[in-house]
Amino acid sequence: MGRTVRVKSFELAAKDINDVDVTLLHALSTGVGWPHRPKDWDFLRRAGHGIVAVDGIGRVFGSAMWFPYGREFATIGLVITSPRTQAQGTGRWLMEQVFERCGDRTLSLNSTDAAYHLYLSLGFTKEATVYQWQGEAVSPPPPVPALDGELSPLTGNIQEITALDERAFGTSRQRLLALLSEGASICVLRRGGETVGYSMKREFGRGHVIGPIVASNDCDAIHLTAVHLKDLAGKFARVDTREQTGLFADFLQQSRLGMNDTVTTMSKGRRFLNRKGNEPWVYGLAGHALS
Ligand SMILES: CC(C)(COP(=O)(O)OP(=O)(O)OC[C@H]1O[C@@H](n2cnc3c(N)ncnc32)[C@H](O)[C@@H]1OP(=O)(O)O)[C@@H](O)C(=O)NCCC(=O)NCCS
Repeated sequence: MGRTVRVKSFELAAKDINDVDVTLLHALSTGVGWPHRPKDWDFLRRAGHGIVAVDGIGRVFGSAMWFPYGREFATIGLVITSPRTQAQGTGRWLMEQVFERCGDRTLSLNSTDAAYHLYLSLGFTKEATVYQWQGEAVSPPPPVPALDGELSPLTGNIQEITALDERAFGTSRQRLLALLSEGASICVLRRGGETVGYSMKREFGRGHVIGPIVASNDCDAIHLTAVHLKDLAGKFARVDTREQTGLFADFLQQSRLGMNDTVTTMSKGRRFLNRKGNEPWVYGLAGHALS
């Protein structure tokens, strides 16, 4: 595969995403209407790896990032081509560069409509729809079912949630959780002395994201979300979930957040989403790129 791609009069080459100024990345995401702040890009650069497509004088025309979890799996995100160079092969070339760097890992991503056919043609298959709920959190949040267990802030070590998260996510993301926890409020649900769920709230984009939300059933997930929505009353909140029906989806609908957009979870390699009975499950995503 070529080390450069020619689009119109530009020849673009791949450069490590850490070697460009964050203002250029921010301009790229703003240019396609995404809410990422420079701080969000900085966080993502700490959490994963990435490349940018630059021309001979250092202008950035595209980006792609990947977040490896061990040797088996990685998520992909922040795939962007600047509007003036779209539909000329840069997106495909960026993805091929990412494939080369991810080896034979199973790959998963959350595709926008704009990118869906590109990913299909690159061998990804559809697994699920992600619903993006967002808006001003109202006070009080909608009624919640009876709580079974005790909710409390996680004040100690994130070790308490890493094994639970691995069962829900399918692979260990201990390092990512440690990074996320630096700027997050974390709530845990314990029942009978066991940790059965957790949720994080952290600043992102226009306000706060509630996610990851990990629970074994809809009622637990509702409590783990409501506790943060209560704190965010009057502020911008966002929840990304694959739940389309059921009590948790109903709760989000009643929360008066609006359903802003959908993206499609796709994978290449082994299947990524494997929900099992009453096992823990990711009710809320950490973010589109992080899944
Ligand atoms: C999605 C995106 C990255 C694609 O980048 P790109 O540089 O335009 O992609 P390419 O030129 O390599 O095109 C890839 C395929 O997409 C399709 N495509 C791209 N733009 C298209 C357009 N305007 N009309 C029709 N098809 C189009 C083509 O089918 C093309 O397939 P081909 O290689 O067989 O011709 C770019 O549109 C973008 O940044 N969109 C906004 C951000 C976004 O949604 N990112 C995806 C996150 S998951």
